[in-house]
Amino acid sequence: MAEQEIRFNVPSLEGRETEYVAEAMRSGHSSSGGSFSSRAGDVIREEIGGAGVLLTTSCTSALELSAMVLDLQPGDTVIVPSFTFVTTALAFVRQGARVLFCDVEPETLAADPAHVAELMDDSVRAVVLVHYAGIAGDVSGLMDVLASRPEVALVEDVAHGPFGRWKDHPLGSLGRLSTFSFHETKNIVCGEGGALVVNDAADLERAWVLYEKGTNRRAFMEGQVDKYSWRDIGSSFGLSDTLAAHLLGQLEVRETIQAKRRHVHERYVDLLAEPCADLGVQLPVVPAASDPAYHLFHLLLPDAATRNRVMAEMRAQGVQATFHYVPLHDSEGGRRFAARPTECPVTTDVSSRLLRLPFHNNLTDAEAERVAEALLGALRR
Ligand SMILES: Cc1ncc(COP(=O)(O)O)c(C=O)c1O
Repeated sequence: MAEQEIRFNVPSLEGRETEYVAEAMRSGHSSSGGSFSSRAGDVIREEIGGAGVLLTTSCTSALELSAMVLDLQPGDTVIVPSFTFVTTALAFVRQGARVLFCDVEPETLAADPAHVAELMDDSVRAVVLVHYAGIAGDVSGLMDVLASRPEVALVEDVAHGPFGRWKDHPLGSLGRLSTFSFHETKNIVCGEGGALVVNDAADLERAWVLYEKGTNRRAFMEGQVDKYSWRDIGSSFGLSDTLAAHLLGQLEVRETIQAKRRHVHERYVDLLAEPCADLGVQLPVVPAASDPAYHLFHLLLPDAATRNRVMAEMRAQGVQATFHYVPLHDSEGGRRFAARPTECPVTTDVSSRLLRLPFHNNLTDAEAERVAEALLGALRR
Protein backbone atom coordinates (compact mmCIF):
# COMPACT_ATOMS: atom_id res chain seq x y z
CA MET A 1 0.00 0.00 0.00
CA ALA A 2 1.33 3.46 -0.90
CA GLU A 3 2.37 5.50 2.11
CA GLN A 4 0.09 8.37 3.05
CA GLU A 5 1.09 11.79 1.87
CA ILE A 6 2.63 14.01 4.55
CA ARG A 7 0.90 17.33 4.09
CA PHE A 8 2.72 20.59 4.47
CA ASN A 9 0.08 22.09 6.77
CA VAL A 10 -2.95 20.62 8.50
CA PRO A 11 -5.09 23.13 10.40
CA SER A 12 -6.56 21.49 13.50
CA LEU A 13 -9.19 21.93 16.16
CA GLU A 14 -7.41 22.09 19.51
CA GLY A 15 -9.97 23.39 21.98
CA ARG A 16 -13.58 24.55 22.14
CA GLU A 17 -13.69 26.09 18.66
CA THR A 18 -16.82 24.32 17.33
CA GLU A 19 -18.77 24.87 20.57
CA TYR A 20 -17.92 28.58 20.54
CA VAL A 21 -18.70 29.00 16.83
CA ALA A 22 -22.14 27.42 17.34
CA GLU A 23 -22.71 29.70 20.33
CA ALA A 24 -21.73 32.78 18.30
CA MET A 25 -24.04 31.75 15.45
CA ARG A 26 -26.97 31.28 17.82
CA SER A 27 -26.28 34.43 19.83
CA GLY A 28 -27.83 36.86 17.40
CA HIS A 29 -24.54 38.74 17.17
CA SER A 30 -22.30 37.30 14.47
CA SER A 31 -20.88 40.55 13.10
CA SER A 32 -17.74 42.16 14.52
CA GLY A 33 -17.49 43.58 18.02
CA GLY A 34 -19.39 40.83 19.83
CA SER A 35 -18.53 39.05 23.06
CA PHE A 36 -16.15 36.52 21.43
CA SER A 37 -14.24 39.38 19.79
CA SER A 38 -13.83 41.09 23.10
CA ARG A 39 -12.74 37.86 24.85
CA ALA A 40 -10.24 37.01 22.09
CA GLY A 41 -8.93 40.59 22.15
CA ASP A 42 -8.51 40.35 25.93
CA VAL A 43 -6.36 37.20 25.63
CA ILE A 44 -4.12 38.88 23.05
CA ARG A 45 -3.83 41.98 25.23
CA GLU A 46 -2.98 39.89 28.30
CA GLU A 47 -0.13 38.26 26.37
CA ILE A 48 1.18 41.14 24.30
CA GLY A 49 0.12 44.21 26.28
CA GLY A 50 -0.47 47.45 24.36
CA ALA A 51 -3.13 50.13 24.48
CA GLY A 52 -5.66 48.20 22.40
CA VAL A 53 -6.26 45.18 20.17
CA LEU A 54 -8.40 45.48 17.03
CA LEU A 55 -9.37 42.15 15.47
CA THR A 56 -9.25 42.34 11.68
CA THR A 57 -10.14 40.14 8.73
CA SER A 58 -6.45 39.34 8.09
CA CYS A 59 -2.90 40.39 8.81
CA THR A 60 -3.00 42.14 5.44
CA SER A 61 -5.92 44.30 6.57
CA ALA A 62 -4.15 44.99 9.89
CA LEU A 63 -1.12 46.18 7.90
CA GLU A 64 -3.41 48.37 5.76
CA LEU A 65 -4.94 49.79 8.91
CA SER A 66 -1.48 50.52 10.31
CA ALA A 67 -0.60 52.39 7.09
CA MET A 68 -3.74 54.50 7.61
CA VAL A 69 -2.92 55.14 11.27
CA LEU A 70 0.51 56.41 10.21
CA ASP A 71 -1.19 58.77 7.75
CA LEU A 72 1.26 57.90 5.01
CA GLN A 73 1.26 60.31 2.08
CA PRO A 74 2.65 60.26 -1.46
CA GLY A 75 6.38 60.99 -1.14
CA ASP A 76 6.68 58.99 2.09
CA THR A 77 8.65 55.76 2.07
CA VAL A 78 8.55 52.63 4.22
CA ILE A 79 11.48 50.25 4.63
CA VAL A 80 10.32 46.64 4.18
CA PRO A 81 12.42 43.48 3.92
CA SER A 82 12.53 42.06 0.41
CA PHE A 83 12.26 38.59 1.95
CA THR A 84 8.62 38.61 3.09
CA PHE A 85 5.04 38.10 1.95
CA VAL A 86 3.72 40.55 -0.69
CA THR A 87 1.26 42.36 1.57
CA THR A 88 3.91 43.40 4.10
CA ALA A 89 4.85 45.90 1.36
CA LEU A 90 1.59 46.21 -0.58
CA ALA A 91 -0.38 47.52 2.42
CA PHE A 92 1.80 50.66 2.52
CA VAL A 93 1.80 51.11 -1.24
CA ARG A 94 -2.03 51.12 -1.22
CA GLN A 95 -1.87 54.08 1.11
CA GLY A 96 0.24 56.03 -1.38
CA ALA A 97 3.72 55.39 0.05
CA ARG A 98 6.67 53.91 -1.82
CA VAL A 99 8.78 51.08 -0.53
CA LEU A 100 12.52 50.80 0.10
CA PHE A 101 13.44 47.13 0.15
CA CYS A 102 16.07 46.16 2.68
CA ASP A 103 18.06 42.95 2.73
CA VAL A 104 17.99 40.33 5.49
CA GLU A 105 20.72 38.74 7.57
CA PRO A 106 21.85 35.34 6.26
CA GLU A 107 21.29 33.43 9.51
CA THR A 108 18.01 34.73 10.96
CA LEU A 109 16.56 36.02 7.65
CA ALA A 110 15.43 39.12 9.60
CA ALA A 111 16.05 42.72 8.48
CA ASP A 112 19.72 43.66 8.28
CA PRO A 113 20.13 46.77 10.51
CA ALA A 114 23.21 47.94 8.56
CA HIS A 115 21.19 47.99 5.32
CA VAL A 116 18.27 49.72 7.06
CA ALA A 117 20.71 52.42 8.27
CA GLU A 118 22.06 52.80 4.74
CA LEU A 119 18.56 53.26 3.27
CA MET A 120 17.39 55.72 5.90
CA ASP A 121 16.64 59.23 4.63
CA ASP A 122 14.16 62.01 5.38
CA SER A 123 11.39 60.38 3.31
CA VAL A 124 11.27 57.31 5.57
CA ARG A 125 8.21 57.23 7.83
CA ALA A 126 8.27 53.61 9.00
CA VAL A 127 10.35 50.45 9.14
CA VAL A 128 8.58 47.09 9.08
CA LEU A 129 10.15 44.32 11.11
CA VAL A 130 9.13 40.78 10.17
CA HIS A 131 9.95 38.06 12.70
CA TYR A 132 10.65 35.41 10.09
CA ALA A 133 9.67 31.89 11.25
CA GLY A 134 8.70 33.45 14.60
CA ILE A 135 12.37 34.10 15.42
CA ALA A 136 13.43 37.61 16.47
CA GLY A 137 16.58 38.71 14.63
CA ASP A 138 18.87 41.58 15.52
CA VAL A 139 16.26 43.74 17.24
CA SER A 140 18.92 45.63 19.25
CA GLY A 141 20.71 46.58 16.03
CA LEU A 142 17.47 47.87 14.53
CA MET A 143 16.57 49.79 17.71
CA ASP A 144 20.01 51.46 17.53
CA VAL A 145 19.33 52.60 13.98
CA LEU A 146 15.91 53.94 14.97
CA ALA A 147 17.16 55.65 18.15
CA SER A 148 18.40 58.65 16.18
CA ARG A 149 15.15 58.77 14.14
CA PRO A 150 12.30 59.05 16.65
CA GLU A 151 9.95 60.24 13.90
CA VAL A 152 10.24 56.87 12.11
CA ALA A 153 7.64 54.36 13.31
CA LEU A 154 8.49 50.72 13.90
CA VAL A 155 5.75 48.40 12.64
CA GLU A 156 6.04 44.72 13.56
CA ASP A 157 4.63 42.12 11.20
CA VAL A 158 4.07 39.30 13.68
CA ALA A 159 2.30 36.97 11.21
CA HIS A 160 4.83 34.23 12.11
CA GLY A 161 5.47 35.20 15.70
CA PRO A 162 2.53 35.09 18.11
CA PHE A 163 3.72 34.33 21.66
CA GLY A 164 7.37 34.34 20.70
CA ARG A 165 9.66 36.67 22.63
CA TRP A 166 12.73 38.84 22.22
CA LYS A 167 14.47 39.03 25.58
CA ASP A 168 11.61 39.72 28.03
CA HIS A 169 9.40 41.32 25.41
CA PRO A 170 6.56 39.52 23.66
CA LEU A 171 6.80 39.85 19.87
CA GLY A 172 4.24 42.45 18.96
CA SER A 173 5.07 44.70 21.90
CA LEU A 174 8.17 46.26 20.33
CA GLY A 175 6.64 48.41 17.58
CA ARG A 176 4.33 51.41 17.65
CA LEU A 177 1.92 49.11 15.82
CA SER A 178 2.01 45.36 15.30
CA THR A 179 0.04 43.01 13.11
CA PHE A 180 -0.95 39.36 13.56
CA SER A 181 -2.32 36.68 11.22
CA PHE A 182 -4.78 33.93 12.08
CA HIS A 183 -4.89 32.51 8.54
CA GLU A 184 -5.25 28.73 8.45
CA THR A 185 -1.53 28.36 7.72
CA LYS A 186 -0.47 30.12 10.93
CA ASN A 187 0.06 28.95 14.54
CA ILE A 188 -3.27 30.23 15.85
CA VAL A 189 -6.01 30.06 13.25
CA CYS A 190 -9.61 31.00 12.51
CA GLY A 191 -9.68 30.45 8.74
CA GLU A 192 -8.81 34.03 7.86
CA GLY A 193 -8.25 36.63 10.53
CA GLY A 194 -5.79 39.05 12.03
CA ALA A 195 -5.22 41.70 14.66
CA LEU A 196 -3.70 45.12 14.99
CA VAL A 197 -2.06 45.74 18.36
CA VAL A 198 -1.82 49.46 19.04
CA ASN A 199 1.04 50.01 21.45
CA ASP A 200 0.95 53.82 21.61
CA ALA A 201 -2.20 55.03 23.39
CA ALA A 202 -2.09 58.25 21.31
CA ASP A 203 -2.98 56.19 18.19
CA LEU A 204 -5.90 54.31 19.66
CA GLU A 205 -8.87 56.64 19.22
CA ARG A 206 -8.08 57.30 15.56
CA ALA A 207 -7.31 53.61 14.93
CA TRP A 208 -10.86 52.77 16.07
CA VAL A 209 -12.35 55.44 13.77
CA LEU A 210 -10.43 54.04 10.77
CA TYR A 211 -11.50 50.53 11.78
CA GLU A 212 -15.17 51.54 12.10
CA LYS A 213 -15.52 52.73 8.48
CA GLY A 214 -14.34 56.25 9.27
CA THR A 215 -16.92 56.80 12.02
CA ASN A 216 -16.76 57.25 15.80
CA ARG A 217 -19.05 54.24 16.28
CA ARG A 218 -16.69 52.75 18.84
CA ALA A 219 -17.05 55.81 21.10
CA PHE A 220 -20.84 55.53 20.62
CA MET A 221 -20.85 51.83 21.56
CA GLU A 222 -18.87 52.66 24.69
CA GLY A 223 -21.44 55.30 25.64
CA GLN A 224 -19.02 58.21 25.20
CA VAL A 225 -21.16 60.00 22.59
CA ASP A 226 -24.91 59.82 21.94
CA LYS A 227 -24.70 59.34 18.15
CA TYR A 228 -22.00 58.51 15.67
CA SER A 229 -21.07 60.01 12.34
CA TRP A 230 -18.48 60.10 9.58
CA ARG A 231 -15.14 61.52 10.81
CA ASP A 232 -12.18 60.33 8.74
CA ILE A 233 -11.01 57.86 6.12
CA GLY A 234 -11.37 54.20 7.04
CA SER A 235 -12.77 50.91 5.89
CA SER A 236 -14.52 47.76 7.07
CA PHE A 237 -11.81 45.89 8.96
CA GLY A 238 -13.77 44.01 11.62
CA LEU A 239 -13.55 40.24 12.12
CA SER A 240 -16.93 38.51 12.33
CA ASP A 241 -17.76 37.31 15.86
CA THR A 242 -18.26 33.79 14.44
CA LEU A 243 -14.61 33.75 13.40
CA ALA A 244 -13.59 35.42 16.68
CA ALA A 245 -15.29 32.47 18.43
CA HIS A 246 -13.10 30.08 16.41
CA LEU A 247 -10.11 32.24 17.32
CA LEU A 248 -10.93 32.28 21.04
CA GLY A 249 -11.15 28.46 21.02
CA GLN A 250 -7.57 28.40 19.72
CA LEU A 251 -6.23 31.21 21.89
CA GLU A 252 -7.44 29.50 25.05
CA VAL A 253 -5.14 26.53 24.29
CA ARG A 254 -2.25 28.62 22.96
CA GLU A 255 0.23 27.01 25.33
CA THR A 256 -0.70 23.51 24.14
CA ILE A 257 -0.42 24.62 20.51
CA GLN A 258 2.97 26.26 21.04
CA ALA A 259 4.24 23.21 22.98
CA LYS A 260 3.17 20.87 20.16
CA ARG A 261 4.96 23.04 17.60
CA ARG A 262 8.04 23.25 19.77
CA HIS A 263 8.06 19.45 19.98
CA VAL A 264 7.95 19.11 16.17
CA HIS A 265 10.77 21.67 15.86
CA GLU A 266 12.91 19.81 18.40
CA ARG A 267 12.21 16.48 16.73
CA TYR A 268 13.46 17.85 13.40
CA VAL A 269 16.56 19.32 15.07
CA ASP A 270 17.32 15.96 16.73
CA LEU A 271 16.94 14.12 13.44
CA LEU A 272 18.72 16.61 11.21
CA ALA A 273 21.33 18.68 13.05
CA GLU A 274 24.25 16.29 12.63
CA PRO A 275 23.64 14.94 9.12
CA CYS A 276 22.74 18.41 7.82
CA ALA A 277 25.98 19.89 9.21
CA ASP A 278 27.89 17.21 7.27
CA LEU A 279 25.87 17.91 4.12
CA GLY A 280 26.32 21.69 4.23
CA VAL A 281 22.66 22.37 5.08
CA GLN A 282 21.80 25.15 7.55
CA LEU A 283 19.04 24.59 10.11
CA PRO A 284 17.03 27.51 11.59
CA VAL A 285 19.33 29.76 13.62
CA VAL A 286 17.85 30.98 16.91
CA PRO A 287 19.78 33.85 18.54
CA ALA A 288 20.19 33.68 22.33
CA ALA A 289 17.84 36.64 22.86
CA SER A 290 15.04 34.97 20.90
CA ASP A 291 12.39 32.63 22.25
CA PRO A 292 10.77 31.47 19.00
CA ALA A 293 7.11 31.06 18.17
CA TYR A 294 7.86 27.88 16.16
CA HIS A 295 5.93 28.92 13.09
CA LEU A 296 7.85 27.01 10.42
CA PHE A 297 10.91 24.84 9.89
CA HIS A 298 13.21 26.00 7.11
CA LEU A 299 16.53 24.77 5.78
CA LEU A 300 19.10 26.46 3.59
CA LEU A 301 20.46 23.97 1.06
CA PRO A 302 23.84 24.43 -0.63
CA ASP A 303 22.46 25.82 -3.91
CA ALA A 304 19.29 26.36 -5.95
CA ALA A 305 19.72 23.26 -8.13
CA THR A 306 20.02 21.01 -5.06
CA ARG A 307 17.00 22.68 -3.42
CA ASN A 308 14.84 22.16 -6.50
CA ARG A 309 15.95 18.57 -6.99
CA VAL A 310 15.52 17.66 -3.29
CA MET A 311 12.09 19.28 -3.16
CA ALA A 312 10.95 17.38 -6.27
CA GLU A 313 12.26 14.07 -4.91
CA MET A 314 10.58 14.61 -1.54
CA ARG A 315 7.29 15.39 -3.24
CA ALA A 316 7.61 12.28 -5.39
CA GLN A 317 7.78 10.35 -2.11
CA GLY A 318 4.63 12.02 -0.80
CA VAL A 319 6.35 14.58 1.43
CA GLN A 320 5.01 18.05 0.74
CA ALA A 321 8.12 20.18 1.13
CA THR A 322 7.85 23.71 -0.24
CA PHE A 323 9.64 27.06 -0.48
CA HIS A 324 9.11 30.85 -0.38
CA TYR A 325 9.46 33.89 -0.73
CA VAL A 326 10.07 35.19 -4.25
CA PRO A 327 12.23 38.31 -3.55
CA LEU A 328 10.01 41.38 -3.59
CA HIS A 329 12.71 43.83 -4.69
CA ASP A 330 13.06 41.87 -7.91
CA SER A 331 9.35 41.28 -8.61
CA GLU A 332 7.30 43.23 -11.15
CA GLY A 333 5.26 44.91 -8.41
CA GLY A 334 8.31 45.51 -6.24
CA ARG A 335 10.14 47.29 -9.06
CA ARG A 336 7.03 49.30 -9.87
CA PHE A 337 6.33 50.44 -6.31
CA ALA A 338 9.86 50.87 -4.95
CA ALA A 339 11.00 54.44 -4.29
CA ARG A 340 14.26 53.44 -5.95
CA PRO A 341 15.96 50.14 -6.79
CA THR A 342 17.96 48.59 -3.95
CA GLU A 343 20.31 45.64 -3.80
CA CYS A 344 19.29 42.67 -1.66
CA PRO A 345 21.80 39.92 -2.51
CA VAL A 346 21.19 37.84 0.63
CA THR A 347 17.45 37.72 -0.12
CA THR A 348 18.11 36.63 -3.70
CA ASP A 349 20.49 33.94 -2.49
CA VAL A 350 18.46 32.50 0.41
CA SER A 351 15.17 32.48 -1.45
CA SER A 352 16.76 30.26 -4.13
CA ARG A 353 18.09 27.77 -1.53
CA LEU A 354 15.36 27.69 1.12
CA LEU A 355 13.28 24.58 1.73
CA ARG A 356 10.36 24.33 4.19
CA LEU A 357 9.48 21.00 5.75
CA PRO A 358 5.92 19.91 6.60
CA PHE A 359 5.14 21.58 9.91
CA HIS A 360 1.91 21.65 11.91
CA ASN A 361 0.59 21.04 15.43
CA ASN A 362 -0.06 17.33 15.03
CA LEU A 363 2.80 16.15 12.85
CA THR A 364 3.74 12.84 14.49
CA ASP A 365 7.24 11.66 15.39
CA ALA A 366 6.88 8.90 12.78
CA GLU A 367 5.99 11.49 10.12
CA ALA A 368 8.95 13.66 11.14
CA GLU A 369 11.18 10.60 10.72
CA ARG A 370 9.77 9.94 7.26
CA VAL A 371 10.34 13.58 6.28
CA ALA A 372 13.94 13.40 7.55
CA GLU A 373 14.55 10.15 5.69
CA ALA A 374 13.19 11.56 2.44
CA LEU A 375 15.24 14.74 2.86
CA LEU A 376 18.52 13.05 3.76
CA GLY A 377 18.08 10.36 1.11
CA ALA A 378 17.59 13.03 -1.56
CA LEU A 379 20.50 15.14 -0.27
CA ARG A 380 22.85 12.14 -0.38
CA ARG A 381 21.89 11.10 -3.92
C1 LIG B 1 5.12 37.71 7.02
C2 LIG B 1 3.70 37.75 6.59
N1 LIG B 1 3.01 38.89 6.70
C3 LIG B 1 1.71 38.98 6.33
C4 LIG B 1 1.03 37.90 5.84
C5 LIG B 1 -0.40 38.05 5.43
O1 LIG B 1 -1.25 37.39 6.33
P1 LIG B 1 -2.82 37.24 6.04
O2 LIG B 1 -2.98 36.07 5.14
O3 LIG B 1 -3.43 37.04 7.39
O4 LIG B 1 -3.26 38.51 5.40
C6 LIG B 1 1.69 36.68 5.70
C7 LIG B 1 0.98 35.51 5.16
O5 LIG B 1 1.50 34.47 4.90
C8 LIG B 1 3.06 36.59 6.10
O6 LIG B 1 3.75 35.44 5.97
